[in-house]
This record gives sequence, C-alpha cells and structure tokens, in this order.
Amino acid sequence: MEVEKKEEVESESSEQVVNPWEVSAKDGGKIDYDKLIDKFGCQRLDQSMVDRVQRLTSRPPHVFLRRGVFFAHRDFNEILDAYERGDKFYLYTGRGPSSEALHLGHLIPFMFTKYLQEAFKVPLVIQLTDDEKCMWKNLSVEESHRLARENAKDIIACGFDVSRTFIFSDFDYVGGAFYKNMVKVAKCVTLNKAMGIFGFTGEDHIGKISFPPVQAVPSFPSSFPHLFTGEENLRCLIPCAIDQDPYFRMTRDVAPRIGYNKPALIESSFFPALQGENGKMSASDPNSAIYVTDTAKDIKNKINRYAFSGGQDSIEKHRQLGANLEVDIPVKYLTFFLEDDSELEHIKKEYGAGRMLTGEVKKRLIEVLTEMVERHRRARAAVTDEMVDAFMAVRPLPSMFN
Ligand code: TRP
Repeated sequence: MEVEKKEEVESESSEQVVNPWEVSAKDGGKIDYDKLIDKFGCQRLDQSMVDRVQRLTSRPPHVFLRRGVFFAHRDFNEILDAYERGDKFYLYTGRGPSSEALHLGHLIPFMFTKYLQEAFKVPLVIQLTDDEKCMWKNLSVEESHRLARENAKDIIACGFDVSRTFIFSDFDYVGGAFYKNMVKVAKCVTLNKAMGIFGFTGEDHIGKISFPPVQAVPSFPSSFPHLFTGEENLRCLIPCAIDQDPYFRMTRDVAPRIGYNKPALIESSFFPALQGENGKMSASDPNSAIYVTDTAKDIKNKINRYAFSGGQDSIEKHRQLGANLEVDIPVKYLTFFLEDDSELEHIKKEYGAGRMLTGEVKKRLIEVLTEMVERHRRARAAVTDEMVDAFMAVRPLPSMFN
C-alpha cells in the first residue's frame, strides 16, 4: 500500500502542467483537456449551448465555438439565462504585454471577444498587465509600459468598437475604486492559499505574490466607476485561454465573501506550435509560431519547413494509408482559421484517405494565413496614436449597450 501511494505521487509530478506561466503536456504528448476540466472543476461547453448562443444572437456561432476551440466554461449558462431575460453583461479580457510581436495564438481570445461584443452588443474592458510582465519577465517598468501601448494597437486592429471598449494599462489605471477592490480581495486570500493556487514558493518575490488581486478585480463592475456607476450588479463574462483559470478560481472564491457576483468564464484550448501539439507556442523560438509581423515569404517557409505533418513519408504509403489527422498541424490550423465548414470537411476527408497530399493542404493553409496576417497588418498600420488614446481614455461609454 505504502509503495503504491508513493508511485502515485511520483506519476503526479510527471503529469501535464497548466498554469498562467507554464503549459506542458505529459511526456511530450498532447494536452488532455478532459482531465483539465476535471482538475480545474469547470464545465464542458456542449453543443446545446452553442445552439443557444446562435438562437439568442440570431447569427451563426463563431468558428471557435462551432469547432470547440472554446471548449470549457464556468456559469456561461447563467449569463445566457440573464441575457434571455433582458439583462446585459460586460466582457473582460486581457493581455500581458511581454513582447512587441504577437503570434496567432495571442489573437485568438481577441478575435473571439470581438465576436462576442458584436453579437451581444455589450461593453468590454481589456486589461494590459504591464505590471505582471515587468515582474515575471524581468522587463523594466518603462519597457513593459511601452509594450502595453504597442500591444494595444494590435488589439485595436482586431476591430473593437471604441464606443463600447475601454483598454487600460495597470500602471496607468490602478488606483481609486479599482485599488479598493484589490485590497478587499487581498484580505481574503492567505499566503498558503496563494501558494496552493499559483505554486508560489518562498523564493518568489513579494511582487508576484501580491499580483493576483490586480487581475481579479476587473471582474467587478465597481472597479470601473466611469463605466458602471449604478450598474454594480452587472454580470461579467471573461473569455480567456484556460491557463488563466487559476486567477479566476481565486476571484470566484472571494467574490461572494465581499458581496460581489462571481464572474463567468468561457475558456479556450491552446493554439499549438508548428512542431506539434504538446503545449503552447514558445516566445523564445521564432520558428515555433506564425507572427502577425511575418511576411508572406516567412509564412510560406515556416509552414513548409516546420509544420508537423500527419502525412506518410512516401507518396505510395500516403495513398495507401492516408494522413493521421490527429497529429497533423496544417489541418489543426485550418480548423482554427478556415471559415468554410464544407471545405474543411472536404480537406479532412480527402487528406485522411490519402487522396490529397500534405503539400496541397499546406498550400491552402499558407493562403489562409497570408490573407489573415495581411489583413491584420493593414488594420494595425491604420491605428493612430489618437485612436490608442481614445480607447484608453478614462471616460463614460454612453451607448455601450446599444
Ligand atoms: N495574465 C494575462 C496574460 O499574461 C493577461 C490578462 C489579464 C488576462 N487579465 C486577463 C487574460 C483576463 C485573459 C483574461 O496574458
């Protein structure tokens, strides 16, 4: 018995790790999302919910919903119940500005949030955690503050509506009502609890340990008096990648104790690296991801050279056995970004049966991504400093629900 127990503990430690700072699958395999749902205690987003979103918004659900990219949630059904009764909500998402260039994985929550904002006609707050990245990535205060503004341009380029969107940098905005809420949250979380949720140790500096309340409180409308005075019961929905869940587990645990609603969440899986599906892309390896700053030539080279193929190594074998779609990165990327359902089905069928070759699938993917990145580049170039100022101004949004 004793021995068995020990083994269990040891295999635990070689398990997959998913937290805001580390994403790695067990022994180089794939992330097990079912296991993650169990471990975190969130709910699976099922087809009936996707259908319900379609009914309530009278438009086709986003590709990321239809294809299960956003696959888990917490209380999203309650947001929909309230919406059905005529109650609105607000959206909250964010980004840690750690680098100049965003990759495609970074755009996913923003593309999806833009769809939610448009479909539900609701206000949105976007937090730029320049303080977080300064503390974790060893950037100077000035540099991470500068990156926040640079990243805001990429975010704005995703097409958000300035009349319903407030973007803020923590360095600029923390204070007043926001800070009061941070202190309320901080008083409810012991050091032991924070160590349990986030894995902090005695070697971590106290800046890190004190950070979680900063990411927690945008979940509460009273943190934004210029937007939500008189709307303190407004519900909050947070679209994010599932690695951010620990922050919001803490937030949901504390909320009722300080008299606030728990935020609801809608959570995505990770966008895989070109080399294959065993974690997130790595900022330190430029060949593991497609960046929004990549040229058409870069995209072509990266896909052709690095995108892991599930095709067979000889044409004869491929014709005979077909591609393994489970591990094929071009198909996976097309699942995220090729809008046309029937074309995607066609590719999967033909490629899986060996009638289509890897080169042909890659060619289609290169077209799709080049067009998307080009569109982003044009949109970003059109974002002026005045526009950034407009999104980041502390101001009321008088027609945010229209
Ligand atoms: N911590 C996130 C990151 O490093 C940034 C963030 C802040 C965020 N608030 C959020 C992400 C809310 C999703 C939802 O990218």
